[in-house]
Order: sequence, then C-alpha cells, then structure tokens
Amino acid sequence: MALRALQTLGETHVTKGLGRLTTGIMTGGQGSYIQFDDGRKLLDFSTGIGVTSLGHCHPKVSKAAADQCMNIVHAQCSIAFHEPYLRLIERLLPVMPHPSLDSFFFWNSGSEAVEAALKMSRIVTGRPNVICMQGGYHGRTYGAMSVTRSKTIYFEGNGALAPGAFSIPYPYWHHFGLSPNTSPAELANMSLYQLKLLLAQSTAPKDTAAIIIETVMGEGGYVPAPPEFLRGVREICDEHGIMLIIDEVQCGFARTGKFWAVEESGVRPDILLSAKGLANGFPLSAIISRKEVTDQLKPGMMGGTYAGNAVSCAAAVAVVDAIKEEKILANVNARSSELFAALKALAAEPDVAPHINEVRGKGLMVGVEFASTTYPLPNAAQAIPKLASLVSAKCLEKGLVLLTTSIYEVVRFIPPLNISEQEMKDGIKVFSDAVREVIQEHSK
Ligand SMILES: Cc1ncc(COP(=O)(O)O)c(C=O)c1O
Repeated sequence: MALRALQTLGETHVTKGLGRLTTGIMTGGQGSYIQFDDGRKLLDFSTGIGVTSLGHCHPKVSKAAADQCMNIVHAQCSIAFHEPYLRLIERLLPVMPHPSLDSFFFWNSGSEAVEAALKMSRIVTGRPNVICMQGGYHGRTYGAMSVTRSKTIYFEGNGALAPGAFSIPYPYWHHFGLSPNTSPAELANMSLYQLKLLLAQSTAPKDTAAIIIETVMGEGGYVPAPPEFLRGVREICDEHGIMLIIDEVQCGFARTGKFWAVEESGVRPDILLSAKGLANGFPLSAIISRKEVTDQLKPGMMGGTYAGNAVSCAAAVAVVDAIKEEKILANVNARSSELFAALKALAAEPDVAPHINEVRGKGLMVGVEFASTTYPLPNAAQAIPKLASLVSAKCLEKGLVLLTTSIYEVVRFIPPLNISEQEMKDGIKVFSDAVREVIQEHSK
C-alpha cells in the first residue's frame, strides 16, 4: 500500500478517541523540524507535547539508544539490574532538587508515574485521600484521571472515579474570577486558604495521604505556581505528615530554565515525578523519593513488564549528558528572554492588545492567553470566538506547529530547549503574523 493510501486506512481504522492536529503522515524529524509525506517541513514548537526537548533525533541520544539496541533491549527490571538503569541514577543523583531524593523507580509514562506516586503515598501513610489542583492534569489512567481537573473530556462517561480525590483551586486568577494582574502573593494566599478549609471541612489531615501539584500547570493553561504557594503547601504537609507529590512530567528536566522547576521555590518534594523530556522521545518516567519512604514498600509493590526499559534509560543518560555538555540551561534562558520580549511587544500592539489577556510561563514553557467569549473578562465583549485554535491553525498553514491548551483560549510554546536564535526568530515571526492576520480577518 502506498504511503498516501495509508492516510485513508488510518482515518478508517484508528480509534475516533484519538484527536489529531493535522492530516498527513510524519515521515521524519530532525532537530527543530518535522517532515511530512506531503512535502511539508514544519518548525516544531510542540516537541511532541514537551518530549523531544533536545530536538528530534538528537545525534547523541539516538546513538546511545541505537547502541543499546544492539546490546540488550529488554533487560527486565524484576529479573536483575541493567547498566543503563544504574547509570541513569548515577547521573540523576547530583541534579536532584533536594539531597533527600535518593530512591528511584523508572516506569514508561507520566500517567504510570502518577499511579505509582498515589499508590506509594497511600501505602506509606496508611491514609486514603489525595488533594489535587483544579486545572491540574496528571494523565488518562484510572488513578491519574481521578486527580485530573483540567478538562472533563478526560473522564467523561466513566461514572465514579477512584474515590478519595479532593481539589482546591490552583493559584490562577481565573479560578477565583479575578483579573490577570492579581499578584502571585494574593493568589497564593487564596489557594492556601482553600487548602486549609478543605482540610477542615472535607478531608481530615489524618485521612490525607498526599497533595499533588504541577510546579507549572500544563494542560490547565501554562500557569506557574507562585513559589510562596509551594512553600505554604510544604509547611501544611509538614504540619500534618502529608506527602507532597511534585509532578514535573511536563515542566521538569530543564524546560523552565532550571533543571527542575521546583528549584525556584526551594521546596523539597516527598515524591518527584518526571517523564516526557527525560528520554527525548523514548518512553520513560521516573518516580523519585527518599529511601526512608521507599524502604517501607514490599518487593513486588512496584514493577511492570517494560518498566525502566534499557533503551529508554540509555537515551536518558545521553539526555542528561547533553544538557550539561551543550549548556542547555543557558540556551533556555537566552531564548526565553527573546520569546517573552517578542510576545510582550506583540501583546502591546494597539490592534492586538484587546485580544490578549496574559503572556506567562517559565523558561521555554510559555503560554499566551487570548480573550475568551466563554469565560468572560471585561474585554470579552470584543473577543473572537476560539481565537487560540484559529491562531494555531494559521500557524500550521504558515509552517509552525503550535498547540493550544486548557479550557481557556491559550496557545503554548514548548520549543526544543536547544532551539537556535534564528529558529526562535522564525517561529515568533510566524506566530506574530498569524495573530495579526486572524484578528484582522475576524474583526471585519
Ligand atoms: C503534568 C503531567 N502529568 C502527567 C502526564 C501524563 O503523562 P503521559 O501522557 O506520559 O501518561 C502529563 C502529560 O501530558 C502531564 O503533563
């Protein structure tokens, strides 16, 4: 069957439960670009949803994986150790956001990491309940979707979810019906107040195993948690013996300009979760805690057929090395300043300003929130319906992959962390032109 005909086969035989941004078949990926069978070469500001952080087919990462393929592929983790697993721990120990984080378990996906963290916190504390954040996203498996509050589509039609999940509003102005210029300190106070209320009214501390938080909320709209909020949550956890699970599946591994986003706050996670950029495209997630905690588990409580795959671990070792050798953090911070400056200048243009609520984020995890007709703000009267999707579609036409996120009108920038200055300029130009054109077309 010819490649083109496969498109039709896919449209007929791939589940409707899976959405797609564009038609066509991806045939290759190099650095910051994806190649399609129809000849399109697109600048990739999605990195496959924050995964190919060092660009597609990074030579050192792909070589490490290829070499490992010729050595041993499936070195099952419950049979014995394998070298890449241990090398990865050797690499990760020195970059942990807190020295107490010294016990590792590797799985395949972010959702599985969340499942493991929920399970661990319940076993270790002997308590049933978990507190999550309104707007938070933790995955599509049963436990993970039970603590997900970003969009109902992820659990619609499932009836009762896993019991014992409670939520408070994440410190995001929308969640309190406030304006975008509300100070982070005020938002932090409001969320902490809600947390204290929840612990007094809905789930007693002695019934609460864990609080799970994304340091930068991804699916919920690319909203960084104010450091004072994270510190406040840590204090409450310490006071009541509740475990703090920091989910850095999307925002960790150099994405925000620090190795871990949580570093900015100085907060110590009890369990830290990583995936996505960890192995630059090979399925791998990490559940990291402290030995004193994980020593309470019995052998067999953790595991999985493919958990900590040797090829994925070898790729992740190369990722950590490349982050250091190629001075990725410095590049993230330099490109981030350029991106923020350009987006803020665009948002200040007289024709554009009424349509942009906020430019926000950290490092190369940046969101632009447009005015929305659905969740009104004072400027919503002139809002263009579905502006984020219109801009994303226009960017695609012009050769840039840019994703939307959240129930609000948000587009998210997640370019490769090693993106060049020129590629960043090119992407910004496409986006700025797309925004101006869509506004002009829909303001007539
Ligand atoms: C913060 C966060 N946690 C968990 C997940 C779930 O990861 P996966 O899709 O690998 O199961 C995601 C995925 O987008 C995520 O962004």
